Amino acid sequence: MSKFWSDIVHKLTPYVPGEQPKLENLVKLNTNENPYGPSPQVLAALKLEAAESLRLYPDPNSDALKAVIATTHGLKASQVFVGNGSDEVLAHVFQALLKHSRPLLFPDITYSFYPVYCSLYDIEYQTIPLAADFTINIDDYDQPNGGIIFPNPNAPTGIPLALERIKKLLQTNTQSVVVIDEAYVDFGTESAVNLIRTYPNLLVTHTLSKARSLAGLRVGYALGAADLIEALTRVKDSFNSYPIDRFASAGAIAAMQDVTYFGTICNKVVETRESLIKALKKLGFDVLPSGANFIFVKHPLKSGAELTASLRGQGIIVRHFRSPSRIAPYLRITIGTDSQSKVLIEALADLLSEDAS
Ligand SMILES: Cc1ncc(COP(=O)(O)O)c(C=O)c1O
Repeated sequence: MSKFWSDIVHKLTPYVPGEQPKLENLVKLNTNENPYGPSPQVLAALKLEAAESLRLYPDPNSDALKAVIATTHGLKASQVFVGNGSDEVLAHVFQALLKHSRPLLFPDITYSFYPVYCSLYDIEYQTIPLAADFTINIDDYDQPNGGIIFPNPNAPTGIPLALERIKKLLQTNTQSVVVIDEAYVDFGTESAVNLIRTYPNLLVTHTLSKARSLAGLRVGYALGAADLIEALTRVKDSFNSYPIDRFASAGAIAAMQDVTYFGTICNKVVETRESLIKALKKLGFDVLPSGANFIFVKHPLKSGAELTASLRGQGIIVRHFRSPSRIAPYLRITIGTDSQSKVLIEALADLLSEDAS
């Protein structure tokens, strides 16, 4: 607290990201990073960039990166906005497109950055409870609103929503922007990107942090009709002209271009997820359906807090959310390599057998 702070700073409750522990040799399954490194072509592009032009500012419009992203998704460059991680893209989305006199709607259990942006930008919002099985019921969003946002698959549940449901939502909700945050879409969830041509109020956000293994480079993007993108560009150009530095641009372009590597590591993560789910179910865990690179699980005999603490004692870090209370029994486990899964399963089997003996 300080008398020098503005009113808004006094009122902020900042987002708390998952821990990035400084200890070595941890099995780190807490922040949904990819266990595999980025494409070798990314590393080659970064080396080349390092040898060249860091003396000069980057392109403020990131035209080369936008062109590659547009080609990837069959859109025009005018339908692409890029930013410093999808968190920054989302921040601009909240300010540019979701601040209206009617409340913004999002699920009560979802990405916990959304209410933080609302307090930063003073946006009125209303949370819509997930159904008892933690799914999103789009009929609950059929009410006057200043915008709708949710991730698909949702976080931290991992549950995907069928494209046909999103289409229905867009058909009934035509007067405000609908944002689908597809941070985890590449791990087996249907993307809404192809609906952009039909629905001028649809905005889809993506990140290179997850499926393209570039959490450390900070690149995300939004796709939508050109006038939605223009709103984001107006905010960005009033905030930071160069959110994508030369490294981020070079690395992101190479990552988007290496489609084969991308497909291979996504498939591998999905395969590991499916075998981990089987093994956890054998240990008695309830596992929510996942279309993401993480799973949301609980055990009937041990609380989420207890399991998280015990795993930590064995050098395995997973994520636990204390609130809302409905999700407190759960752990969110990022999908790692097969050998990390093995270590996790052995640790959990030990913990549960200690109890039985
Ligand atoms: C649902 C969701 N959206 C967006 C992000 C932001 O990702 P980034 O800023 O790394 O692009 C995350 C990060 O974990 C997320 O879980």
